[in-house]
Amino acid sequence: MRDLWNFYSAGRLLWGWGTMARAGAVVAERGWKGVFVVTDSRLISAGHAEKLQHSLASQNVGSVEVFSDGEPEPSIETALRAINRAREFGPDVIIGLGGGSNLDLAKIIACCVTHGGNPRDYFGFGMIPGPVIPVVAIPTTAGTGSEVSHAAVLTDNDHQLKVSTLSPFLRPAVALVDPELTVSCPPNVTAESGMDALTHAIEAYTNTYFQDMPVPPEMDMPYDGKNPVADLFAEKAIRLVGEHLVKAVTEPANRSAREGMSLAATLAGLAFSNAGVAMVHALEYPIGGAHYCSHGQGNALLLPYVMEYNLPKRTAETARIAAWLGVDTSGMDTEFAALSAVTRVQELKKLTGIPMKLSDIGVPGEALEDFARKSAGIERLMQLSPRKATADDLLGILTSAF
Ligand SMILES: NC(=O)c1ccc[n+]([C@@H]2O[C@H](COP(=O)([O-])OP(=O)(O)OC[C@H]3O[C@@H](n4cnc5c(N)ncnc54)[C@H](O)[C@@H]3O)[C@@H](O)[C@H]2O)c1
Ligand SMILES: [Zn+2]
Repeated sequence: MRDLWNFYSAGRLLWGWGTMARAGAVVAERGWKGVFVVTDSRLISAGHAEKLQHSLASQNVGSVEVFSDGEPEPSIETALRAINRAREFGPDVIIGLGGGSNLDLAKIIACCVTHGGNPRDYFGFGMIPGPVIPVVAIPTTAGTGSEVSHAAVLTDNDHQLKVSTLSPFLRPAVALVDPELTVSCPPNVTAESGMDALTHAIEAYTNTYFQDMPVPPEMDMPYDGKNPVADLFAEKAIRLVGEHLVKAVTEPANRSAREGMSLAATLAGLAFSNAGVAMVHALEYPIGGAHYCSHGQGNALLLPYVMEYNLPKRTAETARIAAWLGVDTSGMDTEFAALSAVTRVQELKKLTGIPMKLSDIGVPGEALEDFARKSAGIERLMQLSPRKATADDLLGILTSAF
């Protein structure tokens, strides 16, 4: 039995509408001179990279190098190109500007520039030997929570799998969250990344309890399991998604909806990066790794079916989730209320234009068995699942989601 849990965050969380203008001051205060910015062409078109450069220039920050070839669900090859550019430049700080994809690239660059080698040397948990060059994470989606998390995810095209590097040293030094940046997100990105945030919060809240984690207390863990502080953040995140996700998609310029979703994503990041994510993420990794979907879309496709599978072990928790998502559960018995959470998640998908089934996005039925086998092998995530599953059980869940 384990009798402890930890709670970590980014070194500093700076949050607010328009805070991007303070990025230069954040860098100047710390005396960082060489700034390596990781971004992509869509954020350049949206004008965000220019705003960041303007803020840096206003504080006379030394030299700035921009890597603008970030890509969705970045590959190991793209990471290597970025690392080489950063090595030539020799940065004091890496700024990630973008969705989770660019933030994760920034983290992996910081790791490899500090400790040498290439991303493959650090896959898994606890492989980074010490602190890395500071990362300032500026999210432009409301989704991954990477701005506060200890994870960086790349796509391994050789094995068609998403691969994670997890380390306490990967938590950004500064998370600068400016909800205004998310206004330019297209509806599908808003919907999919928002469902990723919801998945983080629901998995953190329904995971294996920290006391039941199958490891001795003296072992460091990538995730500590469900715990009281992560629960607080998860609850608030779920309530915010219930209130704001649909509006953020249908009324992109709605400030209160964008603020609500940005906060939800960061809080869900705090919850999951301590308590953990589980089966939804394990099932998504091979499907996303084979390029059928974005991470958020894949999670949205799988989430209701995993909730249903876990329901016997987490009935009371799932009933609470229903109420937090806005279902009037008064008069329902607990099991019925829990089932209504699953229905509500399906409804959120419909209302935000997310496909309902894996077959809708072109996943072939013959691939499911291979996906189930690959997911079963992701022990780090599977051990957090409240209801244990064999590869056959996973195939059953994938078949329901198909
Ligand atoms: N590190 C973590 O803790 C963590 C957690 C969850 C997911 N992830 C990873 O994050 C990635 C997904 O990140 P994401 O969902 O944020 O999407 P993303 O970063 O892949 O972005 C999706 C697309 O939207 C564009 N975009 C982003 N913000 C925009 C804006 N404000 N205006 C216009 N266009 C914008 C991007 O350029 C990109 O083309 C996946 O690789 C996933 O595995 C990481
Ligand atoms: Zn996720």
